[in-house]
Amino acid sequence: MLKILNLEAGYGELRVLKGISLHVAPGEVVTVIGANGAGKTTLLKTMAGILKARCGEVEFDKRRIHNEPAERIVARGCCLVPEGRHIFSTLTVKENLLLGSYCRARTFRPWRKGPDHADNEQSIESTLEQVYELFGILKERSGQLAGTLSGGQQQMLAIGRALMSRPRLLMMDEPSLGVAPLVVKEIYKTIVNLKRRGLTILLVEQNARAALAVADRGYVLETGQIVLQGTARQLCDSPEVQRAYLGKEYRSIDE
Ligand SMILES: Nc1ncnc2c1ncn2[C@@H]1O[C@H](COP(=O)(O)OP(=O)(O)OP(=O)(O)O)[C@@H](O)[C@H]1O
Ligand SMILES: [Mg+2]
Repeated sequence: MLKILNLEAGYGELRVLKGISLHVAPGEVVTVIGANGAGKTTLLKTMAGILKARCGEVEFDKRRIHNEPAERIVARGCCLVPEGRHIFSTLTVKENLLLGSYCRARTFRPWRKGPDHADNEQSIESTLEQVYELFGILKERSGQLAGTLSGGQQQMLAIGRALMSRPRLLMMDEPSLGVAPLVVKEIYKTIVNLKRRGLTILLVEQNARAALAVADRGYVLETGQIVLQGTARQLCDSPEVQRAYLGKEYRSIDE
């Protein structure tokens, strides 16, 4: 579904990604783990069309998408849940969610009263119901200003907003950052739930323990390069990963 080949990107003089290659097959949860400043966000920003690639290729569903405008990449079915959530705090929860459907709604013409418009309204409504089913708290708080939600609830809102675009590939940037441990568990349960429903996920994390517990495969990113890759089990068993990312008391999140 996703193939990245030799991707390079950075900021001004700063070369951050130094030739990244990775792939994600349909239905997989793939994680990229790496320490602070390794280039994880830079990788996702480049794939989402927010940052220009300097060299290399990104193929999504056999189409080259690198350096396409961000909104087209979303419309193709590849959506980012950004680091730090970036919700619109002065809009309501529901308004934030509806913004997530903007790219798909835009192709419809509301002034034309016809089946297209009716179908679209219905499908946005049904996606909204699915998001509410996934995160009951968002339904309860749908009329509340998003800025009044807790950190964990804002993370759920950011995920819900991305789901409103009906992605086939969901890219998540550190969903556990700044979230209480119990809520991290809940968010990771949702990731498992989404995987069961057939969604393909690329999950970027510093929290290697949580990410490797739900991922099928993973890559380790260090200073802009992939230094290790394998199945989640292989990475968990790797002494380098244990020493650098899992600490001594590694346990699966199910335990
Ligand atoms: N907008 C920017 N302008 C200049 N340099 C940047 C910018 N954003 C990131 N960097 C630099 O690029 C490098 C990689 O940053 P990036 O945010 O991709 O890392 P990360 O792996 O996501 O880290 P974290 O785990 O802290 O989120 C770092 O050295 C960082 O200082
Ligand atoms: Mg980051």
